[in-house]
Amino acid sequence: MLVLGIETSCDETSASVVENGTSVLSNVIATSKEAFAASGGVIPESAARKQVECILPVITQALSDAHITSKNIDAIAVTKGPGLLGSLLVGTTTARVLSSIWEKPLIGVHHTLGHLTSTWLRNDQSPNPNHQGSSNAQCPMPKFPLITLSVSGGHTELWYRESHTKGILLGETRDDAAGEAFDKGASLLGLPYPGGPSIEKAAQDGDPTAYKFPLPLKEDHMLDFSFSGLKTALKYLLQSGHQRSAAQNFVVGAGGGGQNSSEEPLVLRDIAASYQHAIGRHLIDRLQHAYQQYPDACEVHIVGGVSANAHLRKLLLQTIPNMPARFPLSLAYCTDNAAMIAAAGFFMIQEKTTNASAAFETEASPVA
Ligand code: KG4
Ligand code: ZN
Repeated sequence: MLVLGIETSCDETSASVVENGTSVLSNVIATSKEAFAASGGVIPESAARKQVECILPVITQALSDAHITSKNIDAIAVTKGPGLLGSLLVGTTTARVLSSIWEKPLIGVHHTLGHLTSTWLRNDQSPNPNHQGSSNAQCPMPKFPLITLSVSGGHTELWYRESHTKGILLGETRDDAAGEAFDKGASLLGLPYPGGPSIEKAAQDGDPTAYKFPLPLKEDHMLDFSFSGLKTALKYLLQSGHQRSAAQNFVVGAGGGGQNSSEEPLVLRDIAASYQHAIGRHLIDRLQHAYQQYPDACEVHIVGGVSANAHLRKLLLQTIPNMPARFPLSLAYCTDNAAMIAAAGFFMIQEKTTNASAAFETEASPVA
C-alpha cells in the first residue's frame, strides 16, 4: 500500500511516499528555518506564506522521486495538528483538494503519532540522493510493547505503547518542551534558532561538567518533565559574576577548567555543553524510571527533533548500556518530516483507527 504523507505543522513543508508504513520511497523537505535564525523562533505568518508557495512543488517532487504518479497512491495522510494554524491549513486544505480530485481516501494524523512511528521508517528503496542515513533494510522491526520518549520543540511525552495506536501516556512536560529548552537556551546564549543544533555545535569540545545545573524533579517519581528550572539556572549563570549577560563577553576559545568560579570568565562552549548535558540527564533519568516501572517493554525508543542530539545518544549508551534503545534510522526522520505521517496513516488504517474520511478537525496549538 502506497501512502502519500503531507506535513506542514511548523516551518517545514514536507511530502513523502511510503510503502506499507516502513519503506520510504521519497521524502522531500523544504524549510524556511534559515529565515528565522535571528528572530529566535518561527514567525507563523511568514512560515505559512512560504508553505503556500512550496507545497505543490514539494508534492510533485515526492511523487517524481518515488517514480510514481497520483494514480499509484492508495491514500493521503496529512498532519491535522497540533501546530501553527496557518501552516496546518496549508497542508490540510491541499490534502483535502487532492483527495477529492484524485478520489483517494484522506487520513488526518496527530503529529505526535507521526513521531512515535518514525522508528519504523526504512529508506532501503529510496531513490532520493539527498537522503541522510544508511541503507537499513536489514534492521529488524521494533516489537511491542515498548516505551517511547518523544522530544520535540512542541511536546515532551513518554508513552507505554501496546500497538501503534494504543498506549498509555506515562508523563509529559509540566512547562517547556525539551526542544523549547534548547531554543530558549540558545536565545539566552545569543545563538541562532533552532537552538538544538546551535547548542550542539557550540558545545563541541566543551566540558559538560564545567557548570552545575540541577536535575529537575529529582525526588519526584511521577514520570513528568520540567525544563523551566534549567532555563532559569542558565539565565542566572549568565547574569552572575562580572555582569556577563551578553554573548560577546564570552571567552570562546579557552577551556573552563571544570570550575564555576565567579573570578573566571564564562566560556561559551562549556556553558553550552553543560546545559545540553543537563537536558540530556533529565531525559535519561525519566527514561530509566519508566524502564524500571515497565520491565516488560521490549525496547525504548527516543524520537522527535531532540533525538538528533549526538550527546544525548552517547549519554544514554553510557548511563544505561543494557537498555535496548532505538532512535530513528536517519536524522531526517528525527525532525519534522512527511514520511512519519505517511507511516502513521498506514498503521491507522491497518489498526482500523480511521475510516479514512476527510472529516477531521485541524487542531492548532500555541506558537512554539
Ligand atoms: O520534531 P521537531 O522537528 O519539530 C517539532 O515537532 O517541534 O523538533 C524541533 C525541535 C527544536 O526545538 C530544535 O531545537 C530541536 O528539535 N532539535 C534539536 C536538535 N535538532 C533539532 N535539539 C537538540 N539537538 C539537536 N541536534
Ligand atoms: Zn515534530
